[in-house]
Amino acid sequence: MDTETTEGPSEFWNSFYSERERVWSGKPNPALVREVETVAPARALDLGCGEGADAIWLAERGWTVTGVDVSAVALSRARQHAEDAGVASRVEWLERDLAEWEPEGEYDLVSAQFLHSPVELPRDRILRRAAETVAPGGLLLVVGHTAFPPWARHRHADEAELPRAEELAMTLGLRAGGWELETVTSEEREVTGPEGQKAVMTDAVLRARRVRAA
Ligand SMILES: C[S@@+](CC[C@H](N)C(=O)[O-])C[C@H]1O[C@@H](n2cnc3c(N)ncnc32)[C@H](O)[C@@H]1O
Repeated sequence: MDTETTEGPSEFWNSFYSERERVWSGKPNPALVREVETVAPARALDLGCGEGADAIWLAERGWTVTGVDVSAVALSRARQHAEDAGVASRVEWLERDLAEWEPEGEYDLVSAQFLHSPVELPRDRILRRAAETVAPGGLLLVVGHTAFPPWARHRHADEAELPRAEELAMTLGLRAGGWELETVTSEEREVTGPEGQKAVMTDAVLRARRVRAA
């Protein structure tokens, strides 16, 4: 099934999550673990946090986390998982459409892991705005697909625009100064589809550190 959808983001993602009791693995994204495990915990923002595995992993490591997602269904699971993991007090879950949300305050880590959507999602604008909230010395970590898996059921609005990490750094203005680009890479990952199909996917990984004022 390859369908274009005209639903809004909350309708689409709530029905997506409602199809199954659990959609994602419950494990944190490997690129997040690799890029952040040696970073001292502080304040983190997880954009499009889904069922919460990344936010919970961060909270377990001592971070204070704000997880934002448009899906109430995903967030209610995330909330339950955080309680089960004993870290509920360290995570705030916000049900927001990132296209409209104005983040407040500063974060020492802003993470966007596979922030993609088959429905309207102004990803570059969201990431640019979120980058402004990174505190001096803090990190912006964006991990994304460079192509969708062969079994993807929905056409994605951003399919033609999936950037490599270098392109994304340019688009977000991170080459213009004020940032040190610490990881700008593509990495391959073997993935298994819903019917056991195998594919090798290439992810774009961008880690940038906001330079402290001299
Ligand atoms: C591909 S999933 C990735 C989930 C999670 N970051 C992960 O890596 O498992 C994309 C997530 O972005 C969320 N999302 C999509 N559009 C959104 C929007 N406009 N505002 C907030 N969240 C959105 C979806 O609900 C979904 O949880």
